[in-house]
Amino acid sequence: MNFPEYRPRRLRKNELFRKLIRETRLSVDNLIFPLFATVGKGVKKPIGSMPGHFQLSVDLLVKEVQECRALGIPAVLLFGIPDKKDEAASGAFARDGIVQQAVRRIKDKVSDILVVTDVCLCEYTDHGHCGMIEKGEVHNDMTLEVLAETAVSHAKAGADMVAPSAMMDGQVGMIREGLDEAGYETVPILAYSAKYASCFYGPFREAAESAPRFGDRKAYQMDPANGDEAIREMNLDVQEGADILMVKPALPYLDVIRRAREEFDLPVAAYNVSGEFAMIKAAAQLGWLDEEKAMMESLTAIRRAGADMILTYFAMEAARVLQR
Ligand code: PBG
Repeated sequence: MNFPEYRPRRLRKNELFRKLIRETRLSVDNLIFPLFATVGKGVKKPIGSMPGHFQLSVDLLVKEVQECRALGIPAVLLFGIPDKKDEAASGAFARDGIVQQAVRRIKDKVSDILVVTDVCLCEYTDHGHCGMIEKGEVHNDMTLEVLAETAVSHAKAGADMVAPSAMMDGQVGMIREGLDEAGYETVPILAYSAKYASCFYGPFREAAESAPRFGDRKAYQMDPANGDEAIREMNLDVQEGADILMVKPALPYLDVIRRAREEFDLPVAAYNVSGEFAMIKAAAQLGWLDEEKAMMESLTAIRRAGADMILTYFAMEAARVLQR
């Protein structure tokens, strides 16, 4: 059928027609809200490049999680800012580390919300890299055990799911093994499978105080130019026992999200990262973009590309819009 027999505009005539044929729906059920836990009490430290986001001490973090729950957000993702960083990343797997404390408190005070933990070392190492350093380089296999120990410590504290983001080869398998041996065979792994070496993490590194002190992350995170390699990474994670595959960032990598959706039958997550959030906030502050429309259009586009769930700093704001 061609014009003039077929006229696509017929079904765009008004909002009721548009609703009937809408292919993609965004729901609060698809959203995960990232949060930054810091030490102390009553601490609410604004993150300059992420308006509306704060480093929160555990007491205030619990309140924020309660609010997420009231909005119907099914899960939060926790990052920690420890008071001390060292070469061994010991704050990452300490029994009373900041994330472990936060998880315990949230699980104690808030029911019916999933607590997911980011498993990485960059917030805990004094050099800011995601793994152990040997001869000036991030050593893959030495890092694996530390990541597994960190994941197990999160599970022990009560985490509902762990999300390894260090981009070490073999990390998913090692963590699966560690969890299973410790009796946490029912705790799933949300794998940051295709995580790119992206400049869009800039605001996050301010938020988590995790910028590397030397060099960059290109020797472990993926080259933004590569799409086929993302499939190889995802294949490995599937074989190693990943439960959910993640693509990160989201908006500049919608093609990778689509390929993940088509080539694998696991749930697909997308991380709408700090820089994607900051761009919309900044343009809105200048009066150059309608913030709410830009947010909803972006999140819908990520879903249309094939993401089942979206990790986004917009989760609470989007949930409020969806409630209306
Ligand atoms: C930890 C980690 C990072 C992000 C999530 N987990 C930073 C990085 O890899 O440098 C980025 C999240 C964001 O930008 O919102 N490795």
